[in-house]
Amino acid sequence: MREVAIVAAGMTRFGELWQTSLRDLFVDAATEALNAAGVDRLDAIFVGSMASGQFVGQEHIGPLCADHLGMAGVAAMRVESACASGGMALRAGFAEVASGLSDLVLVAGVEKMNDGADATAVLATAADQETEAYQGVTFPGLYAMIARAHMETYGTTEEELAAVAVKSHRHGALNPKAQFGRVVDLQSVMTSTLVADPLRLLHCSPVTDGAAAVLLCPLRDAKRFTDRPVKLIGSGVATGAMALADRADPAFLDAVQLSAERAYRMAAIGPGDVHVAEVHDCFSIAEICCIEALGLVERGHGRHAAPSGETALGGRVPVNTSGGLKAKGHPVGATGVAQVIEVFEQLRGEAGDRQVADARFGLTQNMGGSGASSVVHILERV
Ligand code: COA
Repeated sequence: MREVAIVAAGMTRFGELWQTSLRDLFVDAATEALNAAGVDRLDAIFVGSMASGQFVGQEHIGPLCADHLGMAGVAAMRVESACASGGMALRAGFAEVASGLSDLVLVAGVEKMNDGADATAVLATAADQETEAYQGVTFPGLYAMIARAHMETYGTTEEELAAVAVKSHRHGALNPKAQFGRVVDLQSVMTSTLVADPLRLLHCSPVTDGAAAVLLCPLRDAKRFTDRPVKLIGSGVATGAMALADRADPAFLDAVQLSAERAYRMAAIGPGDVHVAEVHDCFSIAEICCIEALGLVERGHGRHAAPSGETALGGRVPVNTSGGLKAKGHPVGATGVAQVIEVFEQLRGEAGDRQVADARFGLTQNMGGSGASSVVHILERV
């Protein structure tokens, strides 16, 4: 396998972008990445998108994206794994470059969720249709059950859940591309509208439009495109039971743990070496469960991380410095790539007010459904 580097990135603002189409979101992010590297040709494009067909009636977006980027002819394909589509697209691009199949690969993620579709119903197609969605459960409902299980097993409180959202909004307010630029306090989270008990409005990631793109090449060529490449040193993918009721412990994300173990093994580092992490906080409880499954905190101790400041900027291991899915926004197929951009910028020292001092190793974790698929990447400053 060849060593792989990320050499450039581009990302739209995240939010309700009613004036911008799916294809334009992709082109804006991709063009920014290509311009940053001074590149006008590609060998391949991988585009993560969960549900472009359901959200905007557009399938077949591999060629659509290549064409509108002015690159018809280039190998281009879509990658889908629900909300983990972006992270899985990165995995595909990583394998493409590492194997020697291609030298210059654009990995993008795009989703246009605000265009009239019933977002709740579309998102529910990532759950088990026969045992969950047909019975009426929604994604906030599934994560509410995970939250209840965590509360019963470990004594997690509503206040501890709310502290995660407070932290995310505080970080997001420092990110000019985030959907929400406002800070919130514990009280406003705990009195926001109830969505699915115990999860309230301010525990939920929003419905978001946006795109993100990164450029990959063999590490040996990286200096042709940037003087600050970032090395991709670990990639792990895993699956778990699709339906929540089929999991041995609904409060623990087995697929996240397995994907992390694989990524740590490839990178030859452990969770104690991670300096900054972007994890899949589609709901506040998800961040708590993810940091436990990633080994960033002990199992059952995730509840203490946000209240103690351990995962805040300035803490032991800052998590979701971008604002996370909660505050930066969650355009589902784009999320995994946007997570990588945050860590890429952190490792290059370009994160501005959100900068983590001296970060060498960064981790991203992107999850599909209620945790049935997970992909972890580990990046290292060169
Ligand atoms: N966090 C903070 N504020 C939010 C928000 C969120 N998640 N979602 C909406 N808002 C704000 C809006 O900005 C708006 O504010 P305004 O009145 O000042 O303009 C207000 O709340 C109402 O927005 P609206 O779009 O009507 O909310 P909604 O009730 O239709 O949707 C949720 C709220 C929580 C149901 C929706 O964001 C949701 O479904 N989130 C989960 C998405 C999801 O499941 N993703 C996949 C995860 S696996």
